[in-house]
Amino acid sequence: MPHIDYSTRAGFDSLYRRGGEGTWGHPNTRPEVQIHYCRGLYWPDEAMRWARNYSKLPGLQPTNSVVIVGAGFGMGVEALLQGHTFKGVVYPPFTNVIGLDTSAYIQATKDGNDRAEIEEWFNLVPDLPASRKVELIGEWASDGVRLNGGNGKKARTVILDEDGLSRPSRNRIKKAVGGTVDWAITEMVLTSFSDAEVQNLSTTMHQYATNVAHMYMPLRTEKKQDQRLNHQLVATWQALLPQDHLINWETGGIGV
Ligand SMILES: C[S@@+](CC[C@H](N)C(=O)[O-])C[C@H]1O[C@@H](n2cnc3c(N)ncnc32)[C@H](O)[C@@H]1O
Repeated sequence: MPHIDYSTRAGFDSLYRRGGEGTWGHPNTRPEVQIHYCRGLYWPDEAMRWARNYSKLPGLQPTNSVVIVGAGFGMGVEALLQGHTFKGVVYPPFTNVIGLDTSAYIQATKDGNDRAEIEEWFNLVPDLPASRKVELIGEWASDGVRLNGGNGKKARTVILDEDGLSRPSRNRIKKAVGGTVDWAITEMVLTSFSDAEVQNLSTTMHQYATNVAHMYMPLRTEKKQDQRLNHQLVATWQALLPQDHLINWETGGIGV
């Protein structure tokens, strides 16, 4: 069982939290409006950094079939399919990438848009002037580039409701990328599970993919991290997962 209940929006809300009022700040009589899981949290910068990270994996080619495990609304998948330049590093568009996510919340809402939730977060605060509220909602609901007036779908790539645990599930995953999975990569998934569960997940991934990698958030002694999660130093992950590649979420470093 994961340490966070990803089947509900409340589970995501409890983990994904960031101040949403920007440089204008907020009155000290109340806390800042919190933004939770939505495209504006990740798109474009974070998603492109992830795709840049993936593209550094040794041997990974843009024509390889890639399955992102625990892809959420698939912004990392989307960025990898598009190709971009991130902080001066050019990575090409990949041609065959899909996501997997077994969350009932993700699967039920992936074709909707973020706007109603974003409005709800800002409407919790009565003292925000209406014009400022409209502006903030517009910013957060717009992918940063005001795509589709902020009404685009949350997920714009294939996000299969598959975990690869059974043979039929593995066959559906393989079929979705044309037969062979060259790479399966977990995206911020490791810390949600115990060591034994992480090893089981890796074993499952090796049953359908030639190469297995994990993008992880490292243990940070200097910063407070969510105590519900299983943060580890990279050496600990590597010892648990000796056949797998580990990508540092922040730096894109492999095995560091
Ligand atoms: C922390 S969230 C990460 C979501 C997204 N990658 C991100 O970083 O925002 C972990 C996700 O992994 C999904 N997940 C966990 N185990 C999975 C599995 N075996 N197969 C597919 N998805 C899984 C959960 O449903 C959840 O959405």
